[in-house]
Amino acid sequence: MTLTIPPQRTEISPSTLSLPPGPESNKWRQIWHVATGQAFGETLLEQFMLWFNEYGDVVYNNFLGRRMVYVRHPEQIHDVVLRKAGSLRKGFDYTDPRFGLASFLGNGLLTNDGEPWKRQRKLVQPAFHMRRIAGYADTMVHFTQRMLGHWQDGQVIQLDEEMSALTMQIVASSLFSEDISSDVDRVGWCMKVLQELLTSPSMVLPSWIPTPIQRKKEEATAELDRLVYDFIADWRKQGEDRGDLLSMLMLATDEENGTGMSDRQVRDEVVTLLLAGHETTANTLNWTFYLLSRHPEIEAKLHEEVDRVLGRRAATLADLEPLRYTKAVIEEAMRLYPPAWSFARETVEPIALGGYQVPAGCEVRVVTYAVHRDERWWPNPEAFQPERFMTEESARPKYAYIPFGGGPRICIGNQFAMMEAQLALATVAQRYRLRLQPGEQVVAMPKITLLPKYGIKMKVEAR
Ligand code: HEM
Repeated sequence: MTLTIPPQRTEISPSTLSLPPGPESNKWRQIWHVATGQAFGETLLEQFMLWFNEYGDVVYNNFLGRRMVYVRHPEQIHDVVLRKAGSLRKGFDYTDPRFGLASFLGNGLLTNDGEPWKRQRKLVQPAFHMRRIAGYADTMVHFTQRMLGHWQDGQVIQLDEEMSALTMQIVASSLFSEDISSDVDRVGWCMKVLQELLTSPSMVLPSWIPTPIQRKKEEATAELDRLVYDFIADWRKQGEDRGDLLSMLMLATDEENGTGMSDRQVRDEVVTLLLAGHETTANTLNWTFYLLSRHPEIEAKLHEEVDRVLGRRAATLADLEPLRYTKAVIEEAMRLYPPAWSFARETVEPIALGGYQVPAGCEVRVVTYAVHRDERWWPNPEAFQPERFMTEESARPKYAYIPFGGGPRICIGNQFAMMEAQLALATVAQRYRLRLQPGEQVVAMPKITLLPKYGIKMKVEAR
């Protein structure tokens, strides 16, 4: 006789639980907020903080008929990114046919899901192995020095534009061996359109009404197509392995049927890496320089380290380890201003989260900005204190610090980005200090990334 042992259920069935608490929803007020742009303005971050304080770690909201749950506790973040990841897929931000990232980026790593995502991730991953990205260090320093070659003592620069151009050139050159100096403005404009898309007031209009943002999206998509299909055509002229990611994508074959990747899929991966790989790092540097300009005592410590480790010579891979405080400054800037300030999933079946029910088809948003400013894990959370990252991490829960997300969908470029930010910061700090212009207003704006709403103007001072 065979005994069948019923599977052990440690999990309470979600259907016996109630929905999380949250604000009352008023559809007309929400439409008004979207139409006037208030729903996605700079007050959104403050609103999330207020809701968590009022309703607890799991908050429910019905937003224009879409059910949403917001989380900020490391335990529930662990559930979303790892433990219950099988019950979730990428959310509306990624998948909405008109406003989602996929409508622009296509089916690249960021937006793909399920088995196709697994296959592509396996394929792209080797380009980001530590031994591979170590080879990009010189490129990162080279482009930073080239940028500094255009700066002069006393000059006022538009920091956000400088950082965006720098990080874009680094990604294009490292991963695709392409010099895109002359395309920086075009790609920058495409990124702006993408940032506007997800927070567009026209979201409340029926899909058959043509809107300016949809037209701009088509224009930007065509721009990116032109650029990337040119990369592909250039590569085909030689048709040989250049040892870069583009070659890996072009030469990859399916293990089962031996076919190569379609040009469309290559385009989607390249556009995704180009956009996801520059805007986030640019904003990391923007916020880092902003915070340093407001904290001269921390800037002085950074300069002491950079002078001691590098002197006047160019930074190299070997300097990453001794530039420990430089790294801590970046980590702390990403805590206060996480470039990916939140990210979302959608439940494919009901799940329990923090003792509440989350129904199927519900958006679950991890609010990174809120967990990074929670005083249970970060004493004196509003203060800029890089020293927090100079000690052992074990004191705080693993998912209390998640600038790169977590679980299987963790950012593929996290080590690349950290290395880039560390080398770029050290190289700038060797020669210059950046000063905010008097009266300059700097406001954090939560779009796809957390960006300075009016940009940041800085005065360059030679050290
Ligand atoms: C400081 C810089 C960066 C930050 C803060 C950042 C943040 C993130 C986060 C939070 C995710 C997870 C999103 C989710 O779970 O829904 C992610 C995914 C991703 N990031 Fe980054 N990122 C950075 C730099 C980069 C760089 C340099 C690259 C490539 C060159 C890159 C490429 C990607 C890709 C392709 C994904 C999707 C991975 C997947 O789902 O398999 N990122 N990033």
